[in-house]
Amino acid sequence: MYDFQADIDQPKSQFYRELAAAADALTAGEPDAVANMANVAALVWQLVPELNWAGFYRAIGEELVLGPFCGRPACIRIPFGSGVCGTAALNGESQLVADVHAFPGHIACDAASQSELVVPVVRDDTVVAVIDLDSPRAGRFDEEDLAGIEALAGILAARI
Ligand code: SME
Repeated sequence: MYDFQADIDQPKSQFYRELAAAADALTAGEPDAVANMANVAALVWQLVPELNWAGFYRAIGEELVLGPFCGRPACIRIPFGSGVCGTAALNGESQLVADVHAFPGHIACDAASQSELVVPVVRDDTVVAVIDLDSPRAGRFDEEDLAGIEALAGILAARI
C-alpha cells in the first residue's frame, strides 16, 4: 500500500514539488506504461483538489486513445486537432482553458466540467500522450498548476 500525501494548504509550487516527488517514487524502475499512468492518475485524483476527471490519452497514429484515468467514463478516441486534448496533441503545447464552453470544439465528456488543463507528454520530440485534468469550477487552473503538471509530464516522458 502507498500512502502519499501533499499538503494543499502550502504554496502551490511546493505542493507540486511534493506531487512530482510522489509520482517519481511511484514510477521509478517500473517499465510498464499502463501501470505508471494508472498510478499517476490515481495520485493526481487523490491529491489535487477540485477535479472531476484526471487521466491520460495516448497518442496512437493520428488520434488520441483513452488511457488510465479517474472520473466518469469518457470519450475513447479523439482525432489530433479536436477539442482541448486534440489541440494539445497536435501542437505539442499545453492548453489552459478557464472556460471550456468558450473553447472552440471542446468535447464535453462530463457535463460537470467547466475548466480544463491539458499537458502533452513529449518523448524524442513526439507527443506520446496527454495529461488531462477537468474541474467543475471555471478558472480552476492557473500558471502554477500548468507548471506543476508540466513537471509531472517531464518525469513521465520516459516512463509511459
Ligand atoms: N474535454 C476534452 C475531452 C476529454 S474529457 O474532458 C475527459 C477535450 O475537449 O478534448
